[in-house]
Amino acid sequence: MTSESTLIIRLCGPNDWQDLRAIRLEALSDTPEAYGSTYEESVRWSDAQWKNAASTRLYYLADRDSRVVGMVSGGFNDGKPGTRWLYGMYVTPSERGRGTAALLVQSIAEWAKSQGVGEIYLHVGSSVPRARAFYEKVGFRPTGENFQFDRDPSLTLITMVQQLD
Ligand SMILES: CC(C)(COP(=O)(O)OP(=O)(O)OC[C@H]1O[C@@H](n2cnc3c(N)ncnc32)[C@H](O)[C@@H]1OP(=O)(O)O)[C@@H](O)C(=O)NCCC(=O)NCCS
Repeated sequence: MTSESTLIIRLCGPNDWQDLRAIRLEALSDTPEAYGSTYEESVRWSDAQWKNAASTRLYYLADRDSRVVGMVSGGFNDGKPGTRWLYGMYVTPSERGRGTAALLVQSIAEWAKSQGVGEIYLHVGSSVPRARAFYEKVGFRPTGENFQFDRDPSLTLITMVQQLD
């Protein structure tokens, strides 16, 4: 007998801080060059800091068969009022190529649209071509604005934008 696999995308709440910590530390350890923070600084966070992040910042978590396998975060874009950022995107290696990442992006798009927002921006590093290809596939386009990654000046951060319907 085979049991069906289930995938759930859920909004992270105050009680989900341990799941958030687990998947965020995994992301920072798996692909350190993709993120602004480092594993070394994040692993030193106290439980209170994780609880605070889970309560006050916007995250969506992906669960495959009750195990957290992915995350994404969203936030206000002070540089471009009326738009939003997407960041912190990650899915665990066994979950890649299964459509989970697209559902996480969709969650951020729905959150933005519910606030009347028409554009989502992100930065993607030149060192993660799969992420860049993924974002293009789900409708992001380069804006032409590129930056040096302050933590590693050999890497370029590419700005991309998605227009929401
Ligand atoms: C970025 C990420 C969330 C994308 O999710 P994913 O499930 O891997 O994405 P998908 O497989 O749907 O799409 C990736 C696309 O890149 C292409 N691709 C695969 N490997 C690639 C590679 N090594 N180089 C370039 N493109 C690649 C594939 O063709 C695929 O498109 P397809 O559906 O037409 O085959 C996931 O790969 C991830 O978590 N990576 C590590 C963390 C990371 O880089 N985060 C981004 C922070 S900005």
